Amino acid sequence: MRVEVFDDYAGLSQRASDLVAGLIRTNPASVLGLPTGSTPEGFYTALCRSGASFQGVRTFNLDEYVGLPREHAQSYYTFMKQHLYDHVDLPPEQAHIPNGMAPDLEAECRRYEETLRAAGGLDVVVLGIGLNGHIGFNEPGAAWDAPTHPVMLAQATREANARFFGSLEAVPTRALTMGIGTILRAHRILLLASGSAKAEIVKRTVEGALSISVPATALQSHPNVTVLVDRAAAGMLSSVA
Ligand code: F6R
Repeated sequence: MRVEVFDDYAGLSQRASDLVAGLIRTNPASVLGLPTGSTPEGFYTALCRSGASFQGVRTFNLDEYVGLPREHAQSYYTFMKQHLYDHVDLPPEQAHIPNGMAPDLEAECRRYEETLRAAGGLDVVVLGIGLNGHIGFNEPGAAWDAPTHPVMLAQATREANARFFGSLEAVPTRALTMGIGTILRAHRILLLASGSAKAEIVKRTVEGALSISVPATALQSHPNVTVLVDRAAAGMLSSVA
């Protein structure tokens, strides 16, 4: 794993954008795996300003809540519309998010995985990280070879995301997520983390033992992972001065 440390959130966001925009310029038909949440907001702002054309790009989001209509204020579709889709020339049919309202969730996951496979797989996947080490919504204990699948959200994850919903009760209990197997098949992985609250999980991810109880440690087995962190998130890394 390569770790790049930036003075602040703006620096890591710009670097993530530069890397992804550079990839799109090199390969205008790039296939991107994309996250939601607080961490990537700055990345999307910078990416939208980069001037890169998304005309030939295909995007696949990591996850979506089960039971929220697309138009719901907290759906990941709405997040992507606000942070990316409305600002770039990405054709709507090339923007993919699992459908958390599908009547058959298992079938929806198989369809999503097949659509991604037909697109050629992920050239790059951008990840945030949960305080419990989840990537996508692969919570502690998730299998490392899993494809896209339905999951129960960990209580800690629902509590962390209650800030977006106003109350814990309003946070969905289930989601669809790309599996760790899907993520590990990406050619390149960028992991973004910001703030001192993430310092401990960043340390466990980069320097800790591989463990299915810390899903992000699976990334140590991938040959092309870049971890982009600000000084606060890098604060507990022994390898960083
Ligand atoms: C969201 C996702 C999650 C988040 C993680 C961190 O699509 O896949 O793994 O990246 O929960 O969220 P923030 O950035 O809000 O701390």
